[in-house]
Amino acid sequence: MDLYEYQARDLFEQHGVPVLRGITADTPEQAEAAATELGGGVVVVKAQVKTGGRGKAGGVKLAKSAAEAKAAAEAILGLDIKGHTVHRVMVAEGASIEEEYYFSVLLDRANRSYLAMCSYEGGMEIEQLAEERPEALAKVEVDPAVGIDAAKAEEIVRAASFPEELVAKVAPVLVQLYGVFAAEDATLVEVNPLVLTAGGDVIALDGKVTLDENAAFRHPAHADLEDKAEANPLEAKAKAADLNYVKLDGQVGIIGNGAGLVMSTLDVVAYAGEQFGGVKPANFLDIGGGASAQVMAAGLDVILHDQDVKSVFVNVFGGITACDEVANGIVKALEILGDEASKPLVVRLDGNNVEEGRRILAEANHPLVTVVGTMDEAAAKAAELAAA
Ligand SMILES: Nc1ncnc2c1ncn2[C@@H]1O[C@H](COP(=O)(O)OP(=O)(O)OP(=O)(O)O)[C@@H](O)[C@H]1O
Ligand SMILES: [Mg+2]
Repeated sequence: MDLYEYQARDLFEQHGVPVLRGITADTPEQAEAAATELGGGVVVVKAQVKTGGRGKAGGVKLAKSAAEAKAAAEAILGLDIKGHTVHRVMVAEGASIEEEYYFSVLLDRANRSYLAMCSYEGGMEIEQLAEERPEALAKVEVDPAVGIDAAKAEEIVRAASFPEELVAKVAPVLVQLYGVFAAEDATLVEVNPLVLTAGGDVIALDGKVTLDENAAFRHPAHADLEDKAEANPLEAKAKAADLNYVKLDGQVGIIGNGAGLVMSTLDVVAYAGEQFGGVKPANFLDIGGGASAQVMAAGLDVILHDQDVKSVFVNVFGGITACDEVANGIVKALEILGDEASKPLVVRLDGNNVEEGRRILAEANHPLVTVVGTMDEAAAKAAELAAA
């Protein structure tokens, strides 16, 4: 789960990372009041959207008075930044910036480790810097068992070619930021820019945090950080039913058991769909190993309520849960859904007890269900039905 900047700021503050005061506002009037509350001096009004490049898109504006903050919020609220509409701004204290740096620590899946990245030249051009002068962006592996302690932090800062007199100033902030990363079970903590102010303080001015949803059970407080309004309603419904569902932009609904099978199903459907005007999979949905009729019903319920879905491909390989149980699950699921099941279903069953599974589906003879022998044929049939 990605956090908004103001949420990252709050987490940073809780963990002792130096940040500036910030107050969120959903209207220009609230922004004006926030600027007044911050003392009426220089503030920065910042779009709260979960995408980068806000500054360049006009989503970060300096305001020298509460009235200017109101005007800035008026200009920013409603702005579209890379497909994200701005509904909220953060009014932050203005910093007098001497220098801007970059720091991030993230889960490096490929290396089964953590990776810290740091640059003495941070700011809005960091992507460009990484491309044109990669040597200016230090990459230092961080052993998850040790983390970023004082010594590691100094190693990172030196690797990023900071002048020696800054090492002792910047390193402690990296230790604190790692504290956020570890304590909150984050997969990313990124600060761009980390600034040196005219007063000589090092402050995290902009933060991006991604929390590991697999660790949610350890962090009841993280549930409050979720943006319910932003979540896709189908994804929210799937989540409530404990399903592994991701909405995609195609027309063929997909249900399978096992993430690997579902991923290959997406591939064969996309391939088959090329012959039917570019029909594509509408979602990823893995109902897992021991899928009961209830789980099948919950999965079909989500997919059939997707307005983009024109046909559904149920691709199941019977293992511990044998095909006859899956077939019964499909039949019961269609009973449970009744009239709400209104789109053609192509079912491919294989594996443990497949004959009995097919017999059950044949006997039920549901008008919407077509049983197809192989995965490729089923993909083609589902794509054809979606294109019709
Ligand atoms: N509180 C502040 N006081 C003074 N200047 C600020 C403040 N916040 C941001 N800025 C300036 O605005 C620039 C852009 O701000 P910020 O990094 O928050 O947005 P961004 O980088 O455009 O957004 P993103 O990180 O989403 O790409 C900063 O590099 C900094 O120069
Ligand atoms: Mg930034």
